[in-house]
Order: sequence, then C-alpha cells, then structure tokens
Amino acid sequence: MSKLIKKLDDMEINNSLFEIAIRKLEVPVVKIFKASGAIKPVTFKQEDQTLDTKDSDAVKRAFYKTCEKTSNKVLRAMGTNNNPAKGMKVAVLFSGGPAAGGHNVICGLKQALGSENTLLGVKAGPKGLLAGNFFEITDSGVERILNTGGFDFLGSDRTKIKTSAQFDQVRTHCKKNNINGLVVIGGDDSNTNAAVLAEFLYDDKIQVIGVPKTIDGDLQVGDLMPVSFGFDTATKIYSELVGNILQDTPSSRKYWHFIKLMGRSASHVALEVALQTNPAICLISEEVQEKQMSLAQIVEEISRIVIDRAKNKKINHGVVVIPEGIIEFIPEMRRLIDELNNDMAQYRAQMDGMNLTEKHRFVQDKLSEQNSRLYASLPVYIQDMLMLERDSHGNLQVSQIPTERLLINMVRKRIKELDGSVPFGTNSHFFGYEGRCGAPSLFDAAFTFNLGLTAASLILDRHTGYMAAVSDFDKGGSILAIPLTGLLNIERRQGNDEMVIEKALVTLDSPAFRYFESRRKIWASEDRFTSPGPRQMWGPVSNQIPMTVALNRGYNDLNFNF
Ligand code: FBP
Repeated sequence: MSKLIKKLDDMEINNSLFEIAIRKLEVPVVKIFKASGAIKPVTFKQEDQTLDTKDSDAVKRAFYKTCEKTSNKVLRAMGTNNNPAKGMKVAVLFSGGPAAGGHNVICGLKQALGSENTLLGVKAGPKGLLAGNFFEITDSGVERILNTGGFDFLGSDRTKIKTSAQFDQVRTHCKKNNINGLVVIGGDDSNTNAAVLAEFLYDDKIQVIGVPKTIDGDLQVGDLMPVSFGFDTATKIYSELVGNILQDTPSSRKYWHFIKLMGRSASHVALEVALQTNPAICLISEEVQEKQMSLAQIVEEISRIVIDRAKNKKINHGVVVIPEGIIEFIPEMRRLIDELNNDMAQYRAQMDGMNLTEKHRFVQDKLSEQNSRLYASLPVYIQDMLMLERDSHGNLQVSQIPTERLLINMVRKRIKELDGSVPFGTNSHFFGYEGRCGAPSLFDAAFTFNLGLTAASLILDRHTGYMAAVSDFDKGGSILAIPLTGLLNIERRQGNDEMVIEKALVTLDSPAFRYFESRRKIWASEDRFTSPGPRQMWGPVSNQIPMTVALNRGYNDLNFNF
C-alpha cells in the first residue's frame, strides 16, 4: 500500500486534516470557570431581575413547584463551587434540528462534572428518553467529538413528550437508572418540554436544565441571552454560499438567484446573511406582517426592482434572499394556514386514509369561501406542502414549501405584464441543511463549551427549571441561568391553548433591522455586495460574532473575547 493510499484510508470516519486539527484547537473558556486555575464548576446567586410574561399568573399556577423554587429570578455565576454535589448521574439529550456546537455542550458538561459524577448520553432525543436508551459517555468519547459538527454522537428527534403515560415513562427510566439530572439541548419547543419535565420530576429530585440551541436565532432573551448556539455557524456558512453566488452574478450577467434560507418563522437568519453579504433584495417576514403586505405587493416590489436595475443601470442580475417562513407572515396566507391547521386537527381521522388529491378536494370544501378561493389559486406544489403533517409541536414544515419557486413564477408573470423587454433568467436555491451540521465556528465552539460548563454547574449547585445562558460576549462573557417558567406564554397550537416559550422575532425597531433598512435601497439599485468567505477557526475573522447580535446589543466591535 502506498503512503498516499494509507493516508487516505486513515482519513475516513471524521479524520480529515481539518477534523484532526480542530480537535486540537483550544476552546476559549469564560474566566469565572478558571478562577482557581483549572476549569471548575461555579455557584450561582439570585439576581433581583424577575422574568414575567403576560400569562405569568396562569403559568405560576401550572408550574407552582418550580416557580416557588426559582421565584422566576435570573441566576448569575458567583465563583468556583467548592462544595459541588458528588455522585450525580446526569443524562443529556439533543432535541429538534441539529445546530453546530452541540457536541461541545457535551464536552463542557463532561469537563465540569469531572470524575466524581457520571454523564450519560440519551440516544435519539426525546424518543430515546421514552425508551430509556442511555449509555455512559467516556473521556475518549468526548475527545473524539470536541469541536466537530453534527449531533451524530447522540442523534436527535422531534418527539413532544405530552401524555401522562409518556411522563410516567420518563420518570420510570430515570429512576431505574438512578438519574438525578437531565440536560435538554433544544430550541423553544424543546426548552418548553424541559420546563414541563422540571415541574413533573420536581418531587423525584431529578433536576432538569435546558440549553438554548437552534440555528433559527428565535430563542433569545434580550441582553440575558442574545442568541442561541448554531446561529453563528449557520449564518456564516449561508453567507459564504450567498457571497459566492453574488460574486457569480456580475460574472455571468444573466441570472437572478432566488435563495430561500432556513430559519423557520423568524427572519433572523435572512437578516444576518443580508448584513454579511448586501444582496439586491432581502425579504423580512416580520416587516411583511407589520405592513400587512399581500403576496401581490411583494411580487410587485421585486418586479419593480428587477425592471429598475435593468432599465437604469443595465444590470440584469441579482440575488433575492427569502426567509424560510415568509409564507406564514403574508396576511392572506396566515389566515389560510390557521384555518387549515384547525381543519386538519378537527378532521384528522377522516383525512388519514386520503391521497393528496382527495385531501385537496376535502379541505377546499371545508374552508371559508375566501380561503378556499386562495387555496385553489395556489400551484399544486404549494398545496401539497400545505397538506404535510405538522410536526409534533404543531409547526408547519416551512422548509418543505418552495416559496422561492412560487415567487419566481409570479415575478416572471408580472414583469411580462409591466415590460416584456426586460430579461429575467432565474435560478432557485434553498440553503438549510448545509448550515446546520458543519463544524462550529470558533464562537459557537466556545459558546457551547461554556454552555455545557454552565448546565453542569447548575446541576452541581442543585438548581432545576433553568436554561443555561452566556451573555456579554464582548466583555469576557457572563454566565447566567434563566428561569424557564419566566419565558412561558399561552399560544394556540393545533387547535388548543398551550403554554410555550414564545419565538423571538425580528423587530422593526431593532438596530439591526434599522441598519438594513437604511442600506437596502442602494443595494437594490446597484451592486454593493460583499463576499465574507468561509468561516475561520483561526485567522483574521475567527472571533467574529453575528452582526445582528453586535448591533442589537450595542457592542462597539464584532468580536467576542472570552
Ligand atoms: P429547531 O432548531 O427549532 O429544531 O429547527 C431548526 C430547523 O433547522 C428549522 O430552521 C427548519 O425549519 C427545521 O429545523 C427543519 O426541520 P427538519 O429537520 O425536520 O427537516
């Protein structure tokens, strides 16, 4: 065997030169964890700050045990914990879609739990918890996954634990395995699950801690938790891809690229990528909703920009960035989706055996006259996707809806009506899964490792019902814990009122949106794009954090400095 062949063989199974190098990369740790030299768990003190929502009274009644214990107050790390709990058995699981950095949360947990406690992994997310699918995480296990992308070490899923039989199953498995701590790494819905589990397992003295994960960036608590992990890596990867496409446009000079970006309901991902790349057009769902823009108005705006660029600047190319969930924010579509959600919940049994064509006919009959007309006017590829099963948390699967194709078709038609001489070559793209599992950016690698240290510290300091948080990225990092019940609101899901963590959306008075608004006219009229290149683990821009976070939190620079 030649030396080269041997080298190629050795690189199989996550051993590329890159992966070998990043495993050795030192992860920046917030100073408080190293106050006594080595990395140690910390203790917490209650801050004066209480978190309440509009539905606090109802939440306090439903979650009276955890609310009484936490008083819905924020915790702040004080210093090294010299008397941490010992002999603890802590289980950790991933829940929902992958996000870069998840493996480092596990590494941080393992580090802070140390050799006097045991860390168990739950295979395949909440589904694995229901099946009691645990295994012990060893030192060599965490060495292999440090700084690597994906959730493959444990796997994940989207099961919502909701029936009392399911809660009993969780209790039984935890007790049987002598588990006294459970760490749920997930987004808004999974942290809602964590809040419910913390209350349910309270009397069993099983502590539950959430960790904020999601590329969508919609799990935020102001200055206390400016962003969830995974957002930075995903937006850096999408920005590289969008930047490359932008660079192609004045080279080939013939295409308008319509690019849908993952991110579910909120437009944080689209806004961040727009700030990093400066495309001709970026739609923001929350603006569409606030201005009550119809689909026809959105199409009109895009068409006018395409025509203006062609006529005034002789530019027949450009990029349109589209947030994944925009369809839900267009008022007439929102009304249709709400009615569909209710009908699909109400007639589930009847619809179960039907094929798609039968389903279309069935719902069209049930819908109000206005919604039925709108439904009938949509192309079949959109109707099909609107019929997809909602996920177990009641979310429409927006990643499957080809809005980029719908917009291209509608804009093409409108441009023909307005000025048939304008060329309109198009390409459509959807960037989503590409951004979720890449190796974490240096920021996400550090952020997640510190979140793991925080979650373990909370358990060893005997807390439950909190979400681990890191903030003040520009000031060395602050270690906090946010009471999960302080985030719960009542929302309508699948026809029922449920207590859930509210998704944080882009607000039009935020500094990030205002900056975008101040620049977009000029980006629309001429090419001003920029290509940020690949995310870097070392080198000139490795410390860069999301621009939206830096703008919204009033930082003076773009770098984190743990
Ligand atoms: P969560 O982090 O909320 O679990 O979702 C992330 C996400 O990537 C969304 O942006 C996207 O809409 C969805 O998952 C896609 O889901 P799936 O992995 O089931 O296709």
